[in-house]
Amino acid sequence: MKTFVPPIKSQGIKTKLVEWIYTNVEQIEYDRWVEPFMGTGVVAFNIQPKKAILCDSNPHLIRFYKAIQQKEITAPIVKQFLIQEGQKLLESEGKYYYDVRNRFNEKKAPLDFLFLSRSCFNGMMRFNKKGGFNVPFCKKPNRFAQALVTKITNQVKNIGQIIENGDFEFKNLDFQATLKLIDTNDLVYSDPPYIGRHVDYFDSWSEEEEIILRDGLVNANAKFMLSTWLSNKYRTNDYVFSIWKDCYVATKEHFYHVGAKESNRNAVYEALLSNVKLKDSIENQAMKVRIDTNQSQLTTQEKKYESSKQLSLRFEEK
Ligand SMILES: C[S@@+](CC[C@H](N)C(=O)[O-])C[C@H]1O[C@@H](n2cnc3c(N)ncnc32)[C@H](O)[C@@H]1O
Repeated sequence: MKTFVPPIKSQGIKTKLVEWIYTNVEQIEYDRWVEPFMGTGVVAFNIQPKKAILCDSNPHLIRFYKAIQQKEITAPIVKQFLIQEGQKLLESEGKYYYDVRNRFNEKKAPLDFLFLSRSCFNGMMRFNKKGGFNVPFCKKPNRFAQALVTKITNQVKNIGQIIENGDFEFKNLDFQATLKLIDTNDLVYSDPPYIGRHVDYFDSWSEEEEIILRDGLVNANAKFMLSTWLSNKYRTNDYVFSIWKDCYVATKEHFYHVGAKESNRNAVYEALLSNVKLKDSIENQAMKVRIDTNQSQLTTQEKKYESSKQLSLRFEEK
């Protein structure tokens, strides 16, 4: 499956899990796809449902995709903008990044949002209490060299095409408002901020909110799936067996980097929870037994790497 990558970056982006999610939903019947936490939209843009409501409490994401939908942002417009602004970034030896950041925090223009998302440190999305984007520069004044501009332009073109071909509604809503829009024939894919991980203005998340989400999903009487984590080398996400105890569990290993060093690769078991049986899922209680008896927590095949890497990853996990 070719994965379409959206032009906006974010730390919780599911690009690497999209194919797995796809294989788990392709058998499920539904009329409309609903996402209360669309983030970059990578999941919906790859599942490509005929009809979808995509929501997020971050107004910048919604404004950006609405601008693509209304063709205020197109591939040629993005190309011209990034060439022009990229040149100023280069000439100022990077200082221009902070001019754009100030301009964005005042005027909230979607093109500036794109510029920041693609030239900030590590492609992070972080806001202060007042809602201001506060990620520093990636420190590469030549960030918008021709190859990257072409790549981003193609991403805008592809996502624009997907949005044009579908029937998508983008809404700037808190998840509690989105829960009220669910119909019984919907399939709801929820990807809330992972409990205890990111904390900032648009991305804080509490146990109380996780319970409100669970109750809202259960009471809506529709099929739902939720992305969360099951365990890493330090701990298990016990909420899977308390708040989500009535859900099936599917898992997949995922490696992410903290910093640049190979030794900082951390393994996480990502989980898909659902009120319907998924292709890769097992019963909640069965997963609990596996954990309690030290059996594999994977419901999918372990990823194979060339043997030296595989050994070092296992060693690190231990
Ligand atoms: C883990 S990210 C979603 C990532 C997305 N699936 C992707 O692949 O790009 C969580 C999203 O939830 C949004 N969010 C945080 N709190 C929210 C709330 N109370 N209501 C709605 N959205 C919220 C954040 O803005 C963020 O975009």
